[in-house]
Amino acid sequence: MWVTVMSVMAFVVSVFTVIAAFGFIYRQRTKFTTSMASMKNKTVIITGSSAGIGKEAAWDLALRGARVILACRNLKKAADVADFIKSTTGNKEVLVRHLDTSSQASVRMFADKILAEEHRIDVLVLNAGIGGMSKRTLTTDGLEITMATNHFGHFLLANRLLGLLKESSPSRVIVTSSMAHSYIKTLDPRELNYENGKYWQMHAYSQSKACNILFAHHLADILKGTGVVVNALCPGLVATEIFKKCDGFIIGKLYRFLAPIMGKTTQQGAQTIVHLAVSKEDAAITGKFFENCKVSDNISTLVCDAGLAKKVWEASEAYVDLKPEETFY
Ligand SMILES: NC(=O)c1ccc[n+]([C@@H]2O[C@H](COP(=O)([O-])OP(=O)(O)OC[C@H]3O[C@@H](n4cnc5c(N)ncnc54)[C@H](OP(=O)(O)O)[C@@H]3O)[C@@H](O)[C@H]2O)c1
Repeated sequence: MWVTVMSVMAFVVSVFTVIAAFGFIYRQRTKFTTSMASMKNKTVIITGSSAGIGKEAAWDLALRGARVILACRNLKKAADVADFIKSTTGNKEVLVRHLDTSSQASVRMFADKILAEEHRIDVLVLNAGIGGMSKRTLTTDGLEITMATNHFGHFLLANRLLGLLKESSPSRVIVTSSMAHSYIKTLDPRELNYENGKYWQMHAYSQSKACNILFAHHLADILKGTGVVVNALCPGLVATEIFKKCDGFIIGKLYRFLAPIMGKTTQQGAQTIVHLAVSKEDAAITGKFFENCKVSDNISTLVCDAGLAKKVWEASEAYVDLKPEETFY
């Protein structure tokens, strides 16, 4: 009995040590942006900047002098983050605006406010995200909540702000996707909302992240020659709140366990966003997928299909009921 207990304990310690060693090596391989560029006189909007990677990117860009708009659903939490950023960077130009990307009404109200208040947008970071729910859950717009939060809301927001982004050119759109985009092998643009009943949490997260890249590719195509560049990225596995906020086994339990041991810090996780926002060398690159502060070919063939990107775009227009007056391309 005693020998069995000791063997089990030795096994658990070995597994933990191997995971921790992988995590150490993984973190060591993180590339930091080498750009020292100032962001003075630049306006940056970051969705989902009340926590995690978005919060860290907001801090870095504020330190570089940008006017940073924290676009967040939880105003109290975002106000605390704004206070923290102001007091630690000395930059007072950090604003909080309400945005719930899962609600089309909220996205439209946010966009209207930005268009009324701001003269320019130099960088739009579409970063807010959730890991999804174990059961298909609908928003008030009747959309599956992972797709609504991670893809449809950002699709609508970018479209609404496109006119100002073009007027502010050269400007940049940055879309936080994930390597999880490659977990799905097919994507049916008619089934983005899981109306056929075949719903699985991991599929929904993966599909939303695939849509992020397809959207970025198609938007980059549409905007060629305008001076607005669009790129997607994977921040890597990062120890953030995202895993604590969702249920389900793989994302809610497995990743919640692994992320603190194996994952990057939020500072490391934010590097590729910051790089895409500030880099002068990569300023003209558009329609690419970035990892570790450089273009990556670690991307599935599915999301490189321009025909599929166009179909997902057209389906998304219908899902968010995009009006002709909301189209700026
Ligand atoms: N962490 C990773 O390992 C990892 C890996 C690959 C990709 N990503 C991507 O990175 C992005 C940021 O995630 P994170 O890891 O930093 O997670 P996080 O710490 O949970 O931060 C997510 C942010 O998104 C916000 N958010 C969630 N739902 C929203 C909504 N409906 N409207 C507005 N804001 C909303 C959250 O607001 P609250 O504070 O109010 O919850 C929070 O500010 C996500 O797009 C995620 O898919 C993360």
